[in-house]
Amino acid sequence: MGRQEELLELAYRYLPGAAFGAFAFPEGAEVVVAGGRGSKVWDVEGREYIDYILGSGPMILGHAHPAVVRAVQEQIAQGSSFYALNEAAIRLAEKIVRACPCAEAVKFAGTGSEATYFALRLARAATGREEVVKFEGGYHGHHDYSMADESAGIPRGARSSVLVAPFNDLAGTAAVIEEQADDIAAVIVEPLQRVIPPAPGFLEGLRALTSRHGILLVFDEVVTGFRLAYGGAQQFYGVVPDLACYGKIIGGGLPLAAVAGRRDILDLANPRRRGTKEYAWVSGTFSGNPLGAVAGLAVLSELEKPGAYQRLHAIGDRLRAGLGEIFRRRGVSAQVLGVGPLANVYSSPEPICDYRSLRRADMRLTQGLWVELIRRGVMTNLPAKLYLSLAHTDDDIDRTLAMFDESLRAVLDGVGIREATGTRTGSGTSPSAVRGG
Ligand SMILES: Cc1ncc(COP(=O)(O)O)c(C=O)c1O
Repeated sequence: MGRQEELLELAYRYLPGAAFGAFAFPEGAEVVVAGGRGSKVWDVEGREYIDYILGSGPMILGHAHPAVVRAVQEQIAQGSSFYALNEAAIRLAEKIVRACPCAEAVKFAGTGSEATYFALRLARAATGREEVVKFEGGYHGHHDYSMADESAGIPRGARSSVLVAPFNDLAGTAAVIEEQADDIAAVIVEPLQRVIPPAPGFLEGLRALTSRHGILLVFDEVVTGFRLAYGGAQQFYGVVPDLACYGKIIGGGLPLAAVAGRRDILDLANPRRRGTKEYAWVSGTFSGNPLGAVAGLAVLSELEKPGAYQRLHAIGDRLRAGLGEIFRRRGVSAQVLGVGPLANVYSSPEPICDYRSLRRADMRLTQGLWVELIRRGVMTNLPAKLYLSLAHTDDDIDRTLAMFDESLRAVLDGVGIREATGTRTGSGTSPSAVRGG
């Protein structure tokens, strides 16, 4: 038994679904990652992959970037967690405030989920209202207010305090909000929902609608922050929220996240107010830890260099153009989505502009393609999105596109599907069903 097979046996035995969280490799194409450098990762048997998972987004410079490695090595030798004020996190807070249009002050958190959870708490504290609005198909992490419509185990109280509105549908959103505007503390939105761009005027409309009703607008920039532009989606789209949540990139691959925004709102989490009614608890053991902060500072220094965002957009455009061309050539109707260094392609004849149209895409084709890509050396979380980094070269993209082309052909021939489902428990997808897209 090879090393990977042995580890996968253990993973299936001890980790439900051989997964850490919600992400699981497709059956028959599981990989145990041993390391990564730049745009590549390799598995425990030394097989190399071009990586588009990128740690689920933090690794925008690629893996083991020398500046990040150096910063973390230097910091860890000086101590990795103090709970107390430290220079790196103070400087990171300053960088966030300077970069992000809505940010006047910062509270750190450990993960993106904590950041959105705290933002909603702050919004409730600031407005004295209880309900929040999120969008169908939007993801804000694992807590009960984000998962109200998607997970078992959510208490009724949390579930009933979350209203779900249709993304990219301003009139539909206004109808949801106007029914009980006086009870709504916040509208939380991914400005780019997964890989679906906001329709022209949608974010501006949300800004106007929330302002009109005294509701706080929260941008979840955990993905988009420092990625679409240095100032995130709010700079890219030119709409300024009241609060914004950051994670992923600002921790440079280590756990660190933040809520930033209006000072009057962030001041509610000033611990010197403890014991008063104007205090909202925002705290955590690792919030502001110096290890994540030095890693984040190293990443932001690279992103500040001239040309970084032109490159991130150019490489995304190259990938998207190539994907569109491959699907067209093979006669599969497809929707290419994403902005800048975020991309995906779904097989669907209709434009994808929200969760419902996304759900109608041919996910069996995606599943088959995913398996074929991993086998050829392209590491993705294909049902979700492809993350790109400054480490990805034009050659990486060209090789990836060639593997996409081969993979799509294999899926259309039905070969990939049969092989993919033959290994473990095997959930069969018929090749003819896949061809339908
Ligand atoms: C938009 C968005 N918000 C929040 C989160 C949660 O972040 P974390 O996984 O760090 O808790 C994620 C994670 O992917 C995300 O994509």
